[in-house]
Amino acid sequence: MSSIIELSQKAIKDAVKEGRLVISVYGLGWMGLPTAILFAEAGAKVIGVDIDPRVIELIGHGESPIEEPALTVMLKKYLNSRINVTSDLRKAASESDVMILVVPTNVDEGKKPDYLSLEKTAKEIGLQMKKGSLIVLESTVGPGVTEDVVKRTLEANSGLKAGIDFCLVYSPIRAMAGKTLHDIRVYPRIIGGIDKKSLDVASALLECVVSGGMVKVKDIQTAEATKIFENIYRDVNIALVNELAIFCETVGIDFKEAKDAANTQPYCHLHEPGVGVGGHCIPVNPYFLVDVAEKAGVDLKLIKTARKINDLMPEHTLQLVTTALKSCKKRIKRARITVLGISYRSNVKEAKNSPSREIIKKLIEHGARVSVYDPYFTVDEIKNMGYSSAESFEKTVEGSDCVLIAVNHDAFKQLKLENITRLLRKPACIIDGCRIFNPKEVMEKNILYYGIGLGHDA
Ligand SMILES: NC(=O)c1ccc[n+]([C@@H]2O[C@H](COP(=O)([O-])OP(=O)(O)OC[C@H]3O[C@@H](n4cnc5c(N)ncnc54)[C@H](O)[C@@H]3O)[C@@H](O)[C@H]2O)c1
Repeated sequence: MSSIIELSQKAIKDAVKEGRLVISVYGLGWMGLPTAILFAEAGAKVIGVDIDPRVIELIGHGESPIEEPALTVMLKKYLNSRINVTSDLRKAASESDVMILVVPTNVDEGKKPDYLSLEKTAKEIGLQMKKGSLIVLESTVGPGVTEDVVKRTLEANSGLKAGIDFCLVYSPIRAMAGKTLHDIRVYPRIIGGIDKKSLDVASALLECVVSGGMVKVKDIQTAEATKIFENIYRDVNIALVNELAIFCETVGIDFKEAKDAANTQPYCHLHEPGVGVGGHCIPVNPYFLVDVAEKAGVDLKLIKTARKINDLMPEHTLQLVTTALKSCKKRIKRARITVLGISYRSNVKEAKNSPSREIIKKLIEHGARVSVYDPYFTVDEIKNMGYSSAESFEKTVEGSDCVLIAVNHDAFKQLKLENITRLLRKPACIIDGCRIFNPKEVMEKNILYYGIGLGHDA
């Protein structure tokens, strides 16, 4: 078969369907494993590549290291027929027509971008890649990184030239952890290429798994910027409502009521405030842009301020807990506090950069005795994170002075107020970071109720 970059768009789609294309996916995490499985489902021969032997072992036995509905069933269906896994980065490159990079990108303690995994992967691929390959970078990076880091490393190690000997595109994943299969399939896909041929070849390939259509942008830098802009849009809007919520708490307005009323204006889309912003993307990716902007002499004041505001929400939540306990004539030291929710957001089994963890750390530093309950994690999993927990919701909450609702899981929204209040040691308080309960109903049960954005007189 000719190399993929010589094929027509139709021929690429046929080759995928008929299992004549070999696609390596580098990085089998929250984004990479679903990506690999979707290409297997489309018919391609897929090599899943990961440097973590535990990940390779699990997937090799048909077990998914991440929790996503349908993923394990699909993995088991295609494993050893259409999907094989390896930790040999170079061998996978030597056997592949396409290499998709979905390795982690992060920031260090000083909030500077860390693209080392990306550089390492590009080097290993470069040492073995064939002429005529297609490289698709999907990890989130700052504008310029695909060309400065990936292209440069690939060319230096392969002796090949992007745009002549191989095709190169950047196409960010816009999915949310826990629903990646759905999001990849359905959301429009942004793509920017080193040249028109790269764009056309990669679009044809991605169309085999994406039904939401391609959004072809002018160049790679634009594609890199879009993903970060999306994350910054969320971060800044969440910071805005967090700031307004704190204002409302101080002056006695119920932010929730004011927000719902304000949002009846068609141009007003106030978000939900909360105890902080976690996950893989939003607390990290704005710094990728800040770094590029600083090098270009641009000070992204609003974006940096938004990060600061959102990072201060765990401290603000601690203050709410302290105030609430004081109102119950209790001190935080030795108080028994149950934190509901350890995930970084609702309805997902993932605690990466979870604000709950930051809050718990602060509570423990202040001498509180903290227990954690989260329906997405087993007791052992919570204990392995270093927290105390019990077999059931009731056992965890029983005898607590205070409950902090930190995550908006659907299961928590189903909780009956009576089932919490009867378990608490009176006088007791509920701090509701997600505003699940009606303040009046809680107060009627002689439980003090504090919430993010709930003015004390409201
Ligand atoms: N998780 C999300 O919600 C999300 C959403 C959109 C985009 N992204 C982006 O996707 C990329 C991957 O994120 P993720 O959440 O899937 O990461 P993850 O931490 O879940 O998984 C990354 C995997 O890559 C492996 N790995 C690390 N270095 C490697 C290397 N050099 N070669 C091969 N494998 C390597 C790790 O062992 C791990 O299994 C990041 O750039 C992230 O910003 C993540």
